[in-house]
Amino acid sequence: MKILSIETSCDETAIAVLECEGEVSSPEFKILGNSLYSQVELHKEYGGVYPNLARREHAKNLVPLLIRTLKEAGLYYIENKNLKELNNVKTSRLKEILEKEPELHKLFFDFLLTLEIPDIDLIAVTEGPGLAPALWVGISFAEALSIIWNKPVLPVNHMEGHIWSVLLNSKNKIDFPAIALLVSGGHTELIYIKNYKDFEVIGRTRDDAVGEAFDKVGRLLNLPYPGGPQISRLAEIYREKGSPSKITLPEPMINTPDFDFSFSGLKTAVLYKLKEFPILTPEIQEEVAYAFEEAAINVLTSKTSRALNTFSSNTLIVGGGVIANSYLRKRLSDLTNSNENLKLHIPERNLATDNAIMIAMSAYLEFLFRNERIEDLLSGELKAKSNLSF
Ligand code: KG4
Ligand code: ZN
Repeated sequence: MKILSIETSCDETAIAVLECEGEVSSPEFKILGNSLYSQVELHKEYGGVYPNLARREHAKNLVPLLIRTLKEAGLYYIENKNLKELNNVKTSRLKEILEKEPELHKLFFDFLLTLEIPDIDLIAVTEGPGLAPALWVGISFAEALSIIWNKPVLPVNHMEGHIWSVLLNSKNKIDFPAIALLVSGGHTELIYIKNYKDFEVIGRTRDDAVGEAFDKVGRLLNLPYPGGPQISRLAEIYREKGSPSKITLPEPMINTPDFDFSFSGLKTAVLYKLKEFPILTPEIQEEVAYAFEEAAINVLTSKTSRALNTFSSNTLIVGGGVIANSYLRKRLSDLTNSNENLKLHIPERNLATDNAIMIAMSAYLEFLFRNERIEDLLSGELKAKSNLSF
């Protein structure tokens, strides 16, 4: 089946079309079209993501991305006949959506009515977690497409998307029970996965997410937003020099018996450490970036290792933007290489950060799992769930 997926939970606007086949235990995915617009340059000016700004940008970019994705998938045809006629109920629902999301311009709906209905089976959209205004615009867009094309919509949990993104590589078979480490700008969670759709959050951050800590420390070091990739780059320079660092930073909660995390104290420790230096030279930036990265990643690796042992799990899945960090990748592969029974599944780099491909994959698993006919998925109200958990 073909799934068109929409992702707008944070500052990436993304649309994909995937061909999905196979059973839950051996799904096969083929990317037919994929477009992504990152708003990062825009948010850079403000040093973070502003929800209403993100929402406006999503609204502006969704239509061009849809056209590009459909073209890439070979599903874009302009119908030369008259505009499609919609019944009164549909027309008034579209009007309601327009009133709620004025930036999704009326011209866009008129334009959609000139398109031939693309050969897709299902629309998938991220319903949460994320920034509510950003989620809403994606949901309204999905609903509008659903009304005009008469296709069902399936809401998807963004974090499940991060987990299942590892399945794009069909060699990645998951041996349950598995542990997932989700590390992004909004989340730091350890999840015990007994089976597909059977999740238990065993640990989470009590304050800042690890990506958020990278971004905040980036700001302290005068680095552009987002700080994560910048810190990672500087830390790597320092590591390659091979000189031991005299800077020691706390590794919060590393020895607590639970699986929770805390990163705000580490960020504050960086703030105080920086006060010891009269000026922020490139050398100090590198050394502090290194010390911070070491501390944060030591905690992540140590708690993940303990979770694998405690839950007798042989599979580690890692998802979320922070897994783009090469040092974290290395530490986790060292950990799993030390035990031949342990398997590590990490998504490819472009799938680690937010994207729509993972949303389509997750929707497909959800669809298989629900075991309902496609037509029966149509019902049910769509709502942004900014705090959605597992
Ligand atoms: O999953 P994601 O794209 O968006 C959500 O937060 O949902 O993750 C973005 C986060 C940002 O905090 C960013 O700084 C961090 O991932 N990040 C990194 C690296 N690349 C991105 N953190 C550390 N090292 C990196 N190389
Ligand atoms: Zn994410």
